[in-house]
Amino acid sequence: MDKLVVAGGISLRGRVAISGAKNASLAILCAAVMAGELVTLENVPDIRDVQVMVDILRSLGAQIHRTTPSGSLRILMTEPPAQMPPYHLAKQLRASNLLLGPLVARFGRAEIPLPGGCNIGTRPMDLHFKGLTALGAQLSLERGTVVARAAGLEGNRVYLDFPSVGATENIMMAACLAQGQTVIENAAREPEVVDLANFLNCLGARVRGAGTDVIKIEGVDSLGGCLRYAVIPDRIEAGTFMVAAAATRGEVILENVIPRHLEPLIAKLREAGVEIEEEEDRIRVRASGPLSPIDIKTMPYPGFPTDMQSQMMALLSTIPGTSVIVENIFENRFKVVDELKRMGARIKVEGRLAVVEGVERLQGACVRATDLRAGAALVVAGLMAEGETRIGNVVYIDRGYFNLEQKLKMLGARIWRTSSEADAPAQNGTARKSAMV
Ligand code: EPZ
Repeated sequence: MDKLVVAGGISLRGRVAISGAKNASLAILCAAVMAGELVTLENVPDIRDVQVMVDILRSLGAQIHRTTPSGSLRILMTEPPAQMPPYHLAKQLRASNLLLGPLVARFGRAEIPLPGGCNIGTRPMDLHFKGLTALGAQLSLERGTVVARAAGLEGNRVYLDFPSVGATENIMMAACLAQGQTVIENAAREPEVVDLANFLNCLGARVRGAGTDVIKIEGVDSLGGCLRYAVIPDRIEAGTFMVAAAATRGEVILENVIPRHLEPLIAKLREAGVEIEEEEDRIRVRASGPLSPIDIKTMPYPGFPTDMQSQMMALLSTIPGTSVIVENIFENRFKVVDELKRMGARIKVEGRLAVVEGVERLQGACVRATDLRAGAALVVAGLMAEGETRIGNVVYIDRGYFNLEQKLKMLGARIWRTSSEADAPAQNGTARKSAMV
């Protein structure tokens, strides 16, 4: 199993280009099965979750080709799926459930194994079921597979008890091919929902209001293709690099970003004393002196993103004073705490609340990623720590970050991937000369 080795103590400096958004790409790939003609997507990151989603779509009979390493994907799906996605693929990511709406809307039937993904909570699908049922689909759970059937969908009004990103996306996609108008109330407002809506409208759908808590969709008979659609930049990858720059007291310029999507994080980093300059598609992050402890509450967008909670916890673990983190979105998203404590962090968890007492410096140790963003947090911690940190379960990190080591190395980090099982980190901080990538 691969490990990432990080030699801490180097301030990151330089420029980094941010890749396309994982969570927008996954939803848009699912929406592409509704297109009756060729779809070309740009800026889709070649990360593991995208590779798995491409394999799932191919298993449904879609023709998909990645035209260039830069991320362009060409997709064509003309026939109903001959089979349902294989369990070993669908279980690898939560977003496989986003195929329910598109398949039942276009082909009248969908069979999706209950999804997998990061184990950060129970992650039920009741709101997905509520919305698709409201549009006239019959849903059932048969031997671990969600089966959806519909002779045709009818527009309806759906109120979401919680502004679920996935449920909003599934209902919005299905509603595009329903008869009449659908209104989604208390809809998720995340930028990835807006990007999906823009893509659907590129196919000829009629979606209005995405980005607000009320989305209206006028159903159409069919959807066409899209010659070129570019996915938005990944705000969570960008946020991860911003936090890493602050944690190492460096100075980094992020390129290919949409600063507006990062407002909640920018506000919190500024509150801690990080200097941030926003330009049209760039952000400069700089930290030199001492930073201040802050309190964070994760909320649906435009609140502080839950996907940045673990990375911020790593940063706060070495800021003198007491910081409090409340995780309001997922009930089990503090698993990184045990790993950070192995590095000397002082964190106390009570339910959805974590109290972080900043320590002078973390110590490099052997740790393992427990989910995607926890893995990213351990990289941030390793960049700050004294000595080497060896991070296991790197496959979690590869799910959501494209070329992470290479991008960090370009900023001066000493980070490399190794498959060696030797676990003892070097004591004096000199990097082991194992397989350098
Ligand atoms: C999406 O997950 C993202 N994943 C997650 O990113 C992100 O953390 C999350 O939205 C919140 O922003 C993708 O887009 C592929 P939710 P999703 O439905 O859609 C509860 C990452 O690291 N809920 O908004 O699954 C649920 O239990 C990943 O990139 C219900 O109760 O999130 C959770 O507590 C992790 N019933 C809350 O809503 C439902 O039917 C938020 O879930 C659906 C959700």
